[in-house]
Amino acid sequence: MKPNYTLHKDFRLPMGFPPEAFDSGLAYQAQAEDTFIVTYPKSGTTWTQHIIWMLHYDGQPLPVGKNINLEVPHLEEIGGEFVNSLPKPRFIKTHLTYNLTPYHPQAKYIYVARNPFDCAVSLYYHTKGFIKHYDFAEGTFDDFFECFITGEVDFGDYFDHLISWIHHKNDENVLFLTYESMKNNPKAAIVSMAKFLGSNYVRKIENMQILENILEHTSFKRMSLDQSRWSSERPSDMTPFIRKGEVGDWKSHFSVSQAQQLAQKFKTMTKNTEAATLWELPEL
Ligand code: A3P
Repeated sequence: MKPNYTLHKDFRLPMGFPPEAFDSGLAYQAQAEDTFIVTYPKSGTTWTQHIIWMLHYDGQPLPVGKNINLEVPHLEEIGGEFVNSLPKPRFIKTHLTYNLTPYHPQAKYIYVARNPFDCAVSLYYHTKGFIKHYDFAEGTFDDFFECFITGEVDFGDYFDHLISWIHHKNDENVLFLTYESMKNNPKAAIVSMAKFLGSNYVRKIENMQILENILEHTSFKRMSLDQSRWSSERPSDMTPFIRKGEVGDWKSHFSVSQAQQLAQKFKTMTKNTEAATLWELPEL
């Protein structure tokens, strides 16, 4: 069994995503004041969106009743017209590869990478849970793995995304983080985002109350509450959007052969790039 997608040009879009919005998102003209949060799906996008939102709003958490995807909109889901209607500075989410992401030399790009093993598991539960988008409620992890390893999933192959951005890891207007480093030291991640956004933001987190508030309200525990702020409703028998938030959950989903296949693909695709050393590969 495979998830159902709407094929649009070379892209697999979730069913119900308007292709026109996708096209207008790609045509958006990046502005000097923009900050893009760029990820391959399931890499900690929502977590980063909330950190950035709280930094901007002086440590206030996103109130219940608001949706993060209207505050920090997903460019290729909502379309360029909506993003253009927002006041500046704009904070924009995207899952696009580097060459497709709207570029401005003064715009900022926060890239969050997550190891592909946990990404695959997280994307599996995501795909299973959004029934109306993928019709994959009965799909097994084995079914999904076959799609993931060949890149036949939303937003394409994990490695095409990572490799397109890793070459820009050290660009002045790119902050490159990993989900695992954010988990390991969330405070350091928040501080690095504030420094990257500029002195106004650094001044905000010099107020310890603001920094502590951001840490508290962007923790997995707090974000698990009031999940309607992050995503549309999922059936109660499916995993919630903010699901487990762990590093290494893949170990209870992958067979040895699946882990070997993904590790092999990782080695081949990341060879001679800085991506090769982002994570330690499992010993198999
Ligand atoms: P899991 O499915 O492994 O739990 P995205 O926002 O890119 O879709 O990523 C979703 C993944 O990030 C999910 O991973 C989710 O649980 C995790 N996540 C969301 N908020 C988090 C937080 N505050 N801390 C740690 N992980 C978080």
